[in-house]
Amino acid sequence: AKSKSNASEIQTLTGWLLKQEQAGVIDAELTIVLSSISMACKQIASLVQRASISNLTGVQGAINIQGEDQKKLDVVSNEVFSNCLRSSGRTGIIASEEEDVPVAVEESYSGNYIVVFDPLDGSSNIDAAVSTGSIFGIYSPNDECLADVGDEGTVMEQRCIVNVCQPGDNLLAAGYCMYSSSIIFVVTIGTGVFAFTLDPMYGEFVLTQENIQIPKAGKFYSFVEGNYQLWDDKLKKYIDDLNDPCPSGKPYSARYIGSLVGDFHRTLLYGGIYGYPRDKKSKNGKLRLLYECAPVSFIVEQAGGKGSDGHQRVLEIQPTEIHQRLPLYIGSQEEVEKVEKYLA
Ligand code: AHG
Ligand code: MN
Ligand code: MN
Ligand code: MN
Repeated sequence: AKSKSNASEIQTLTGWLLKQEQAGVIDAELTIVLSSISMACKQIASLVQRASISNLTGVQGAINIQGEDQKKLDVVSNEVFSNCLRSSGRTGIIASEEEDVPVAVEESYSGNYIVVFDPLDGSSNIDAAVSTGSIFGIYSPNDECLADVGDEGTVMEQRCIVNVCQPGDNLLAAGYCMYSSSIIFVVTIGTGVFAFTLDPMYGEFVLTQENIQIPKAGKFYSFVEGNYQLWDDKLKKYIDDLNDPCPSGKPYSARYIGSLVGDFHRTLLYGGIYGYPRDKKSKNGKLRLLYECAPVSFIVEQAGGKGSDGHQRVLEIQPTEIHQRLPLYIGSQEEVEKVEKYLA
């Protein structure tokens, strides 16, 4: 019998998206939005890999609405993401970590999807070429809860904010691209978690993992322990107990690279827990609900794990403002339930 060429076994992201569309899981418009996001990630991947060659390391010299020193690549990757979404013609509103307010996309002519994104996550790592990523979430427009607003000028802005501020349970799709030793695009459209690795031979994302399931428990914990003294006592006790070489076995291992996408992806595949708690200085922690906590929580739940603010599911939380922060505990079900017990 004729041996199947391995080409027939290779499934690209484009091919996978078309199959989901043919199966009716997503519509043609959402397929185009997801495809345009993967294009943006490919462009950002090459910008990140050549940052020090093309003088794109270092700071832009501006402060973003988060109060952070914007890196040059924060700004550039935000433009790349926005341009790809605009030219898709299916995006109605975009909300970005690097934009003060949500932006209505005039060029859209059908679909009108809402896309929230962190164009470059872990950007403090860029100059040392440590893993970074991009994170995105996609909502369908929801006009019904429009507050009546003042004069013409604020109508669009208010409408954008009301439309964008949806709980993560409304997400139609979410994912991230990790720029590391491999470039890995991870996505869920509500039917499990799929990973695609960029094949530099021909610049396509190729399916490398299907229906990823996070281990139910894991011995890796990934917390910003430099803030230990600022944490409340219940959390200190939790961390102390993780480090206690109890008679039954060795204590947990700490892994933390300061990039949510890298720390999360390792947690998703190896199991364990990632946490960015609130502390005395930042009472809601550091990570942003809309375009960091909610998308990774959708992914982890699709993989059989949990995403919590320490007390409730991240995906239930109704955002009230675009850049609001939230404490995040995410990873293996048993590990997240364990920290929730300590914090109760
Ligand atoms: P961003 O680079 O998009 O602003 O996000 C950085 C976040 C997250 O990626 C990471 O887990 C965390 O900040 C690291 O914070 P510390 O520098 O306080 O460890
Ligand atoms: Mn930032
Ligand atoms: Mn981030
Ligand atoms: Mn960012």
